[in-house]
Amino acid sequence: MASDNRLISEQFPRSSKYHPDWILASVSGGANPLWLTEWLAESMDLQPGMRVLDLGCGRAMSSIFLHREFGVQVWATDLWFSASENLQRIRDAGVADGVFPIHADARSLPFAEEFFDAIISIDSFIYYGTDDLYLNYLARFVKPGGLMGIAGAGFAREIDDPVPEHLRKWWTPECCCLHSAAWWRRHWERTGILQIEQADMMPDGWQRWLDWHRMVAPDNATEIQALEVDRGNYFGYVRVVGRRRSDVNLEDLIVSLPAQYTKQQLMRDDES
Ligand SMILES: C[S@@+](CC[C@H](N)C(=O)[O-])C[C@H]1O[C@@H](n2cnc3c(N)ncnc32)[C@H](O)[C@@H]1O
Repeated sequence: MASDNRLISEQFPRSSKYHPDWILASVSGGANPLWLTEWLAESMDLQPGMRVLDLGCGRAMSSIFLHREFGVQVWATDLWFSASENLQRIRDAGVADGVFPIHADARSLPFAEEFFDAIISIDSFIYYGTDDLYLNYLARFVKPGGLMGIAGAGFAREIDDPVPEHLRKWWTPECCCLHSAAWWRRHWERTGILQIEQADMMPDGWQRWLDWHRMVAPDNATEIQALEVDRGNYFGYVRVVGRRRSDVNLEDLIVSLPAQYTKQQLMRDDES
């Protein structure tokens, strides 16, 4: 039988062990989550038994991968994809004792403060994490000294107006959430909550983006052509890792205020 070389890459030896049919049957986004997770994990000291939140895990491939490769316990949390479907995938992968599917919104998480040793997010953080106030919310779920890491689609540099000619056909208003590693570093660093340990781009990441797209979305000519013309000038994968500082107190979240109405005269000249 001819060997199946699909998705084998020297750059990603751990990911290359997984069957391409399993990966292709679990696609939930525009990037190969195993490649991004393997790359991100290189910059995070993940040890067996650690509790990890995989935020925006999609179909939970990254969660299964993290448990199998590093022996961590993973809370596979996602909004759009079904936790029940993910449970089937997790059971079939034989990791139900270490990967726990949760359906939740990243802005309203059902976890105890300081429960996790690490939080990761693969190609998902752009959907909620650009909010200036979000890190102050999310960081409370990781222990002081714990790690937070994101990896996903981004740009080599920020795009100021106007959008470059070769990206215009591909560009939509949502593309505004894609940022450079330097942007993310500043976005996190200025809060004072995290000590940034890594902020960089994947070497030849645009080619991996192109490889993946040619395989999973060969009809998406607009994106493929934009990648081919751009050649990594803007497109790429971005990785940022920070450690929660122990000397910073997180602001309490205001979720509601007590009712305290006092009736007062509305207008100066109102006699009633
Ligand atoms: C592009 S997909 C990536 C999925 C997966 N991590 C992967 O790499 O294949 C983006 C994911 O972000 C999740 N997401 C978006 N907004 C979210 C939110 N507010 N809370 C939790 N997950 C969210 C979606 O459910 C979706 O699975």
